[in-house]
Amino acid sequence: MIDFRDWLDSLHDYTRALFRCLKLLWTAAPGETVFIGAAVLLQGLVPALSIWISKLVVDTVATALTQRENLEQVSVGLLVAGWVGALLLEYLLNPWIQAVQGNINDKVTAHISLLLMHKADTFADLTHFEDPKFYDELQLLQKELSYQPLNLLQNLAEGGQSFITLVAMVALLAPLGFWIPFVIAIAAIPQIVVSFQYETKIWLTLFENSPQARRMQYCTSVMLTDTYAKEVRLFKLGSFFIGGYLRAFQSLHQSMRHLREKQALWSTSLALVSTLGNGFAFYWVVQQAFRRQISPGSVLLFIESLASFQRSLEEFVRTWLELYETLLYMEQFFNFLNKEPSMVLCVPGTPVPNPIQYGISFKKVHFSYPDNRSALKDISFTLYPNETVAIVGENGAGKSTLVKLLTRLYDPTEGVILVDGVDLRELNLNEWRHQIAAVFQDFGRYALTLGENIALGDLTVLEHPETLRYAIEKAGMVGVVEKFSTKENTPLGKQFGGTELSGGEWQKLALSRAFVRKRAQLLILDEPTAALDPRSEYEIYHRFVELAEGKTTLLITHRLASVRMADRILVLKAGRLIEEGTHQELLRRGGEYATLWNMQAKHYSL
Ligand SMILES: Nc1ncnc2c1ncn2[C@@H]1O[C@H](COP(=O)(O)OP(=O)(O)OP(=O)(O)O)[C@@H](O)[C@H]1O
Ligand SMILES: [Mg+2]
Repeated sequence: MIDFRDWLDSLHDYTRALFRCLKLLWTAAPGETVFIGAAVLLQGLVPALSIWISKLVVDTVATALTQRENLEQVSVGLLVAGWVGALLLEYLLNPWIQAVQGNINDKVTAHISLLLMHKADTFADLTHFEDPKFYDELQLLQKELSYQPLNLLQNLAEGGQSFITLVAMVALLAPLGFWIPFVIAIAAIPQIVVSFQYETKIWLTLFENSPQARRMQYCTSVMLTDTYAKEVRLFKLGSFFIGGYLRAFQSLHQSMRHLREKQALWSTSLALVSTLGNGFAFYWVVQQAFRRQISPGSVLLFIESLASFQRSLEEFVRTWLELYETLLYMEQFFNFLNKEPSMVLCVPGTPVPNPIQYGISFKKVHFSYPDNRSALKDISFTLYPNETVAIVGENGAGKSTLVKLLTRLYDPTEGVILVDGVDLRELNLNEWRHQIAAVFQDFGRYALTLGENIALGDLTVLEHPETLRYAIEKAGMVGVVEKFSTKENTPLGKQFGGTELSGGEWQKLALSRAFVRKRAQLLILDEPTAALDPRSEYEIYHRFVELAEGKTTLLITHRLASVRMADRILVLKAGRLIEEGTHQELLRRGGEYATLWNMQAKHYSL
């Protein structure tokens, strides 16, 4: 049985979320919300109005027939006109409600999307985005954004309308016998409660089984997305993923089917109770009519109101339950908006020294990812101004993580990073990032034009085509741009019908983003040439010298031949800094670097 206090609590949460949603609608589309509110009120009253007029017509006709009087044509005519008017009102309003609902839906969806994007934009670091639970929730919010606002609108309108009709029917039925609406309502209550309980259970089951639902979606997307199409065909993975889908489906479907069948059983049993209650009231009304206590019009009114009451009650319960699911979605949305940023920012913060005089120092830096996996341990070193430092180490050694700390996408778990003696956390973050030109290992491939893709490095370049051309030339991309008749204006990415670049061409493009950021003091290159052919790599490394001029450069690469140009090399292993020195020094030491070098040298001399 339901616990009354729990029930009250959930009712409280429900109404609170409902009010927040109404406020949201009002903010997103005030005019349209008022229109829909008024239309809902009118439409809710129309059934009661037409039933009431029908009763008056029947009574007038019955009086004329039984008392053999002349029918008062004028008053009957007026009543019929009123009846037609009420129906007309409903029909005339409907297309406008549809149109306005469409408009609100557009506005509310855009409003929610904008709030989501603005909020996400306030997170200065990656903690939230790399936290699986948070990321899951965010994906859910984004995915359901296409239909939840529409659900909200429709259910609010339909629920509001059926509630008004219900109240109006109670007002019509009460004069026949004040207990009648009570009996009908009480007979319907068990059905409502059970429906509510089961819908909640169904929702909770869906929620608990959301990993299965996501697994189903994942398998479908692997089979239907271009990213995986090559491997799915080559490795013949079709039946593997289809099998995964089916297993997840079976497990989800089993629990849902069981619940739905139980719900249907309860509903049919309880429908019996409520029908009996209605039958009893009907019998009583007919008896009253025989005793001439009530008019024939009132019998009609009873029959019609009862049918309308039943319909509205069912509609009300249905929309209430559907709204429940939407409100849970909206709760998640409001929670997201209330989410505190995980990184504390110093605003406005200390100005970034320009130029940096003494260097950037890591002091006993430890870092663990949000899942508590330790990625960097006790790292201490200094990047001196205008120096080029290479970082080498095996996969997973912590090189890219170090870049994330330097760009302040994360703060160290322990220790500090100092810029000319000032803690990085105290510097103005925007200014700091403005001083960095970075090519990430997993750089973005945007569905924009080729020129825009490069200009993302510094959007002001869009007004300075000469800087764009300079970057294209320096990154060795002239050949790539010349291939297209539309040059820099060639759209890239298949999403909007653009063309595709090869892996190496994309990498050159990512590099040109760094060339665009001419004034940056710090240059970070994380595997910038991994996908380049030997000629391009050779050319690019020569250009690095130029790119790195006057900048402090951090170069991460597995190609040891190219780290020789660095002033200093840091060797990372399992999150620790194990060696530091010039190429020659490290070779002489005969440690990890020398081993790696010898392995590659042997490989290349083959
Ligand atoms: N977002 C993340 N959440 C949890 N752990 C992570 C995350 N990113 C990286 N790691 C872990 O941190 C460690 C260091 O990863 P990192 O990406 O810094 O390695 P790397 O030296 O750049 O390797 P590679 O040469 O393959 O690029 C790895 O063990 C990795 O599994
Ligand atoms: Mg890496």
